[in-house]
Amino acid sequence: MKKASVILDKDYVIGQVDPRLYGSFIEHLGRAVYGGIYEPDHPAADEEGFRQDVTELVRKLQVPVVRYPGGNFVSGFNWEDSIGPKEKRPHRLDLAWFTTETNEVGLHEFCHWAKKANTDVMYAVNLGTRGVDAARNVVEYANHPSGSYWSDLRIANGEKDPLNIKLWCLGNEMDGPWQIAHKTAYEYGRIANESAKAMKWVDPSIEVVASGSSSHTMPTFGTWEYEMLRECYENVDYVSLHRYYGNPTNDTPGFLARSMDLDSFIHDVLSVCDAVGGIKHSFKKINLSFDEWNVWYHSHEQDNEVWKQGKWKSALPLLEDVYNFEDALLVGSMLITFLHHADRVKIACLAQLVNVIAPIMTKNGGSAWAQTIYYPLMHASQYGRGISIQPIVSSPYYDCQDFEKVPVIDAAAVRCDDGSVSVFAVNRDMSDNVALSLDLRAFTGFSKMEHTVFHHDDVKAANTEADPLQVVPNAPVTVPLNDTQTEIILPALSWNVIRLIPS
Ligand code: AHR
Repeated sequence: MKKASVILDKDYVIGQVDPRLYGSFIEHLGRAVYGGIYEPDHPAADEEGFRQDVTELVRKLQVPVVRYPGGNFVSGFNWEDSIGPKEKRPHRLDLAWFTTETNEVGLHEFCHWAKKANTDVMYAVNLGTRGVDAARNVVEYANHPSGSYWSDLRIANGEKDPLNIKLWCLGNEMDGPWQIAHKTAYEYGRIANESAKAMKWVDPSIEVVASGSSSHTMPTFGTWEYEMLRECYENVDYVSLHRYYGNPTNDTPGFLARSMDLDSFIHDVLSVCDAVGGIKHSFKKINLSFDEWNVWYHSHEQDNEVWKQGKWKSALPLLEDVYNFEDALLVGSMLITFLHHADRVKIACLAQLVNVIAPIMTKNGGSAWAQTIYYPLMHASQYGRGISIQPIVSSPYYDCQDFEKVPVIDAAAVRCDDGSVSVFAVNRDMSDNVALSLDLRAFTGFSKMEHTVFHHDDVKAANTEADPLQVVPNAPVTVPLNDTQTEIILPALSWNVIRLIPS
């Protein structure tokens, strides 16, 4: 059996984990809203039409924030279409996804759903076809108490208290030519700056996220961040990053190593942020919002077929990736990478939440179930709140096509708010279990240790409507704890949660 070790020490502090690291995303796209969170004719629908079976699955994830309403969708969206009496709301062509948006679910309804799901809203403004005026107006509508045109309209629309949205995205993927009203870095930096200024004049308590690169591989990556931040550094709080990975060549070891790209993407963006801070002689630090991340590739061909059958319909089954077990392992490693950067990555949104590249799937009129990728997010969200500490990992390595020296064991640790310690670890080895020796150093006083293993013999196994529990984690088992040194077996290809519970 291969061997690895992890040293944990209280003093190896990376930073406080912002709970918003476990956020998610719902876009008006495919069946995320219509047929996902909302299906008024479904037997599980509540009085507002929200599916309670779906809300319950979201609540279990303890998602602290959900980005909304897009995504690419937002760059052609008029927020005013989504308020007021439903029967008067316009149906509009959505040029991002070639569908028709009915606006049946709008700003008020989504905020109601968020309350039910026990989450906060992160709202994206349209900096594609719209601009500063629409951005400041929606902040006034949502957050100003009363006595102005937009706040009084909110009250007239049935919401006496402000919606109190604290986190705002300044557009979406404005570096991408596919974006409606795509901009150069300079053009975007200017409009982001002016929008952020006006939005914060309306409500100084909000935080705003500037759109960074849509991927590490964009030709403008780096210069985009540099040029746009030079225009808006003083008025923005975070820069966004987006990243999706796929395994189209069926190279599992290479796929599981993709979190190394994620790590260098984060390093690179931070370097540019800090370089702009440097040239501005600023003491302010810009932190990161990884507001779209996931595995995404399974559904590409199916989407082309769906569009071939006709554009401009509503709630088409788009981006419905069926996730397998290896996808869950990479999602686990991506979460581990965010924990390694907990000092600077403050927000991360698994894209998306329901049906569209999502941990939760539904059948219209039928059941709702958790995909494989649901479980690592649930574990990290439940047990990864506190202070991220740097585990010192000694592990065997492997080489693959794009990366050398990929550690077989990928691990992160959190000293949790309740006094427990969690270690999250992926064993990337294709065939060997690894005996992991845990050296707890100054951590003492634990009464027990629990180990949860998530493993499946078939990396391509998935949960489906017919078999929703095919790939699920084992129940936690108690492992003997020998003073401060102990050994645990991490099965080949597994996600593991090790919990040290205080006496
Ligand atoms: O999450 C799906 C899409 O991916 C989003 O709309 C867009 O921002 C990204 O390209």
